[in-house]
Amino acid sequence: QLMGQLLGMKEKEKQLASYLEIEHCVIVSGDVDEQVKLREEIGHATLETLDFLLPEGNNIIAVMGGATMAEVANQMNETLSKKRELIFVPARGGLGESVDIQANSISALMAQKTGGKNRVLYVPEQVSEETYKPLLQEPGIKKTLKLVEDANCVLYGIGDAMHMAERRGMNDEVLALIETKAAVGEAFGEFYNQSGDVVYKIPRIGMQSKDLAHIASVIAVAGGKSKAKAIEAHMKKAPRHTWLITDEGAANEILTGI
Ligand code: BG6
Repeated sequence: QLMGQLLGMKEKEKQLASYLEIEHCVIVSGDVDEQVKLREEIGHATLETLDFLLPEGNNIIAVMGGATMAEVANQMNETLSKKRELIFVPARGGLGESVDIQANSISALMAQKTGGKNRVLYVPEQVSEETYKPLLQEPGIKKTLKLVEDANCVLYGIGDAMHMAERRGMNDEVLALIETKAAVGEAFGEFYNQSGDVVYKIPRIGMQSKDLAHIASVIAVAGGKSKAKAIEAHMKKAPRHTWLITDEGAANEILTGI
């Protein structure tokens, strides 16, 4: 019976990947919206995926923030660094998250758990673009951004648009924009509509979704029925070689639409 369930899940993974037109999906059974503990399994599945995809030797892994990514970090251990040198870098700077789920903290934890290295990308959040631009000339920031550019792997979460805008305490103007432009999801600080078109971007440095095409291993991690719309829309513009680690809650919701 267990074998049957496993085969059924493999079928569903194939079906979902083919529907989203991406390389591969891993589906963990259950729905993280109903069972927070499931995050651990999603984290573990992500670790297995990394172990499968990352080549031997040097690896630069760019990571985003969020509670999902924090659990991915928690699940990491030194087996990932067997035959590999790992450097973790935040993919983007200062998106307005609480400290424990910021990309900086997460990449530091990943380095600690795997015995790898990490670089921080500290840029202020509450400043105008004019104040912020000259920072790009700072040698330390330049160095980290070069690593982000050279990353061979990116690990990131996907969120529901309104939920993410509120969590980040975005102002009323932006909240209204997100509503009128019918944003459904957010990733990399970019809010996008049902077709996957970006309708608002948090103006910050680092990686953007358009950079994904040039990165060898692209791994999105997001689960829960409440993220189904956000995941589906994001994948419309994601490169073909993307991997998605998700759960049944999201997968079933996406697949009922077909
Ligand atoms: C944020 C990322 O930190 O986490 C976003 O910058 C992502 O791109 C979000 O959408 C997802 O958060 P969570 O907590 O649902 O994993």
